[in-house]
Amino acid sequence: MSAKKLIVANWKMHFNTGQASLFLHKLDQLIEVHHDVEVVLCPNFLALQSLSLQLNRRKFRLGAQNCYYKDEGAYTGEVSAAMLHGLTQYVIVGHSERRNIFGERDKEIAQKVQAVLRSSMQPILCVGETKQERVDGETASVIHGQVTAGLANVTSDEMENIVIAYEPIWAIGTGDFAAVEDVMAAVRLVREQVKGLFGAKAAEQVRLLYGGSVDGSNANAYLKADGVNGLLVGSASLKAHTFATIVSHAHTLGKNG
Ligand code: 13P
Repeated sequence: MSAKKLIVANWKMHFNTGQASLFLHKLDQLIEVHHDVEVVLCPNFLALQSLSLQLNRRKFRLGAQNCYYKDEGAYTGEVSAAMLHGLTQYVIVGHSERRNIFGERDKEIAQKVQAVLRSSMQPILCVGETKQERVDGETASVIHGQVTAGLANVTSDEMENIVIAYEPIWAIGTGDFAAVEDVMAAVRLVREQVKGLFGAKAAEQVRLLYGGSVDGSNANAYLKADGVNGLLVGSASLKAHTFATIVSHAHTLGKNG
């Protein structure tokens, strides 16, 4: 399993192009080059171009928050994975906000995963249960269903380019973060599922993240947890010092662990 931690900042619909550039400047001052941590920034589509020119590639990589699964055509308002190629290395796919606010379904999410791979980038597939599903004891089956659907048509060889983020919906933007044991149980389930579908090597290689109210004070516990390869950070990634703290936790662990 990769010892390198993956820390992904999902800025969501925050920061216009100028603000994004200023924020990157701040991060650049606070975050050093770490060979044991990969830091990925996911701004809005508009900011990608300017950030890609500004960015220190030894410190940061870029990701998109979404894409469309067709390469080109009459799809007003959409941006394809093919258009992101060369600009981003990662694309977040199936975030719960995309699923719940914009009505994305599993089939479309699987097509987006395919499109991202086809354009030689790495999808970060998001899965996770609602509060009600959790109360009803459906967490495992929801995760299982979303992983199965999202990875439909993916080959074992392609699995090394897939990242899966467990983001329980009730924990997103609420401050109500998941217990470390629950996160470990969820990533164990996903890894077992990947093993069943794609074999032991794929299960070992696949990087599994936790997301949901991660901040400077709880990040360390997740980063230390068995089977957790990194974090997908929302609101705390909009605060430069907090985000830098999270990155430095990941680095310290890499050094000591
Ligand atoms: P918060 O960290 O704000 O809970 O958001 C998590 C998230 O949705 C990251 O994709």
